[in-house]
Amino acid sequence: MAKKLIIGNWKLNPLTIDAAKTLAAAIDQSPMQEAVLCPPMAFLAAIHYPKLGAQDCFWKVKGAYTGQTSPAQLKSMLVRYCIIGHSERRELGESNEIIQAKVAALLEGGIVPVLCIGHGTTRQEDELAVVDVLKDQLNSGLAGIDPSKVVVAYEPVWAIGQGRPATPEHAEKIALYVKTKYNVARVLYGGSTNSTNAAAFLQQPHLDGLLVGGASLLPDDFNKIINLTF
Ligand code: PGA
Repeated sequence: MAKKLIIGNWKLNPLTIDAAKTLAAAIDQSPMQEAVLCPPMAFLAAIHYPKLGAQDCFWKVKGAYTGQTSPAQLKSMLVRYCIIGHSERRELGESNEIIQAKVAALLEGGIVPVLCIGHGTTRQEDELAVVDVLKDQLNSGLAGIDPSKVVVAYEPVWAIGQGRPATPEHAEKIALYVKTKYNVARVLYGGSTNSTNAAAFLQQPHLDGLLVGGASLLPDDFNKIINLTF
C-alpha cells in the first residue's frame, strides 16, 4: 500500500527557535509513513527534518512585497509542500482568487500545494450541502491548474482544534467525491486527529493521509501517527 502522507501543521507554535529545534529533533526521521513538518516561516531555515512544508506563501516570485515569502525562497530551503487556503487564513480574508494564484505560483516553483477546503461548512449540514461549499472552493482554487499535481486537505472548520473530529466515514465520502470529480493527487483529512483516532481515518480507502495540528506538537502522539501500519 502507498505510504500515507502525514503533515504536521505547527501553526504559530512554538515561540522560540530552541523549542522548535527541540520539537523537530523529537520527531522520528524515518517513519513508516511519509511525514512532513510545517514549522512557522520564521523557523523554517533552522529546522532540519527530511521533509519540510510551509504554512503559506506569496503568489509573486520577487519584487516590492514587504513581509511576503516567495515560492522560490521556500524551494531554496528545500521545502517540498506548502499549505494553502487553511480556514484560519480564509478567516483573515484570503479569497478563492488569492488561493488560486498561490496554488499556481507553487506549482510553477516546483512545490506541492496542499489546498485546504472546508471553510464555511457546518456540522449539521448534510453531505450534499457540504459538497456545494467544497465545489466552489475547488472550482476556484484549481482553476487553470493541473489538479493531478495538487494535494487537497478536507478540513471541516467545525472539527479543527475542537477535540471532535468528523467521522472517518464522512471524510471518506468527501475524499471519494474530491478524487473522482477533480482527479487530484491525494486527499487528506484534518481536524482533531490524534494517535487514538488516526488509524480509523487512514484505513479508509480514499483517504491518503492527515493534516495534523495540535497533535503534531506532541512528539509521542505524532510519532505514533507517522508509524502506524496497515
Ligand atoms: P487540529 O488542526 O488537528 O488541531 O484540529 C488541524 C489543522 O488546522 O490543520
